[in-house]
Amino acid sequence: MDLRGGLKGFAGGDAPRGHLLTLGIMTGALTEAQAAHMAGLFPAIDFQFLGGLFDDAPPGLDILFMAVDGAAPDQIERAVRQCKLNPAAPQTVFVLRNADLSNTRALLQSGAVDVLPAPVGETALALCLERIVARGKPMREPSRPVGQLVAVLKAGGGVGATALAVQAGIMAAGRMGSGKVCVADLDLQFGSAALYLDMAEALTVSDCLAVGEFLGDTQFATALAAHGSGMRLLAAPREVTALDALTPQSTDSLLTALRRDFALTIADLPPVWTAWTYRALQSAVRIVLVTRLSVPHVHLVRRQLNLLSLQKLDAIPLTLVCNAVNGDRQNMLSIRAAERAIGRPFDIVIPEDSRVMEAACNQGMDIAAVKRGTKLEKATAMLAEVMTAEALSAQPISKLR
Ligand SMILES: Nc1ncnc2c1ncn2[C@@H]1O[C@H](COP(=O)(O)OP(=O)(O)OP(=O)(O)O)[C@@H](O)[C@H]1O
Ligand SMILES: [Mg+2]
Repeated sequence: MDLRGGLKGFAGGDAPRGHLLTLGIMTGALTEAQAAHMAGLFPAIDFQFLGGLFDDAPPGLDILFMAVDGAAPDQIERAVRQCKLNPAAPQTVFVLRNADLSNTRALLQSGAVDVLPAPVGETALALCLERIVARGKPMREPSRPVGQLVAVLKAGGGVGATALAVQAGIMAAGRMGSGKVCVADLDLQFGSAALYLDMAEALTVSDCLAVGEFLGDTQFATALAAHGSGMRLLAAPREVTALDALTPQSTDSLLTALRRDFALTIADLPPVWTAWTYRALQSAVRIVLVTRLSVPHVHLVRRQLNLLSLQKLDAIPLTLVCNAVNGDRQNMLSIRAAERAIGRPFDIVIPEDSRVMEAACNQGMDIAAVKRGTKLEKATAMLAEVMTAEALSAQPISKLR
């Protein structure tokens, strides 16, 4: 054990001989006395003090102990992002000051190994380390998927969720590069992404499910058809398909494989809630909820937001999009009144432009190719920016302080 306050003696790579696991301790997470005591109890663990910054964190760490303050939302948010976004981050145990149900849950749902309320008691620490040792060496990269999933939901039918998912996906492909972005049309019964992209022959979800247990081994990077923009498409089944054709397990395999092969997967979900849509939402780094400007739609948004909160999915960042807004609609219900009724502002307001959007959907084109520089294009670009933000910022742990 190296308790000299630095990384001296630590060469990175595998743990020193005799040690099964290497555990890094960031400043404030554990005291030297605690580490020394635990080192006596757990000879399989090599304890390393890392200081306050991640910058010099050695690559061979198996577990990281990190202190965060639950009363500082920005710290929790950064910790959640790192856990979810950074494929290179070691598995993390958070030592949480000002712990409560919601910040503990947010950290656990983001993939933390454990959350220990500070100050950490000896028994809680010993039990945590016992569990870590019992699990053995965690799996290393590249087995964890590296891409990000953005889930698209709608409050109301025909609000334009698919058209926006496809158009933002095309723009995202322009930003991130060919072959980096995939739209997965999981609206099993009425999915229309293939139609809107004029890609009738694209591989479908039912084609993928036909391979059974090999679903996770499918090489989607080569199997999926490419749109002219470079975006890939996994199409909805061509025939109306039972919603339970997907299960939580097959959804997991499918989304894990897509996240392995694409930096960004945009999943268009069906209008109903099922066990597998819940699983898809759980693994999303962001949820985009699309609606329109009307009283019934406001009610549907509130219902969806309540449901997300009941399902404990409200820790996932959500982008609320009000689509196809025009003067007539605003005369009947102002944006501000709708926001007041919903209890939060719209993040993006997209204007109605039937001529451009429908021409794009009819011909499988992007809206900028139909007509350049429209307000519709600018607003959709904002959505593409939000959708790509996490995928682009999935950076090394050195960025987290
Ligand atoms: N901003 C917009 N301006 C004008 N028309 C739009 C706009 N956005 C979408 N549309 C049109 O709205 C119609 C419905 O779009 P879309 O199929 O994407 O909705 P959806 O929410 O996915 O519907 P579903 O409930 O069937 O899944 C399409 O004809 C599309 O061209
Ligand atoms: Mg749709």
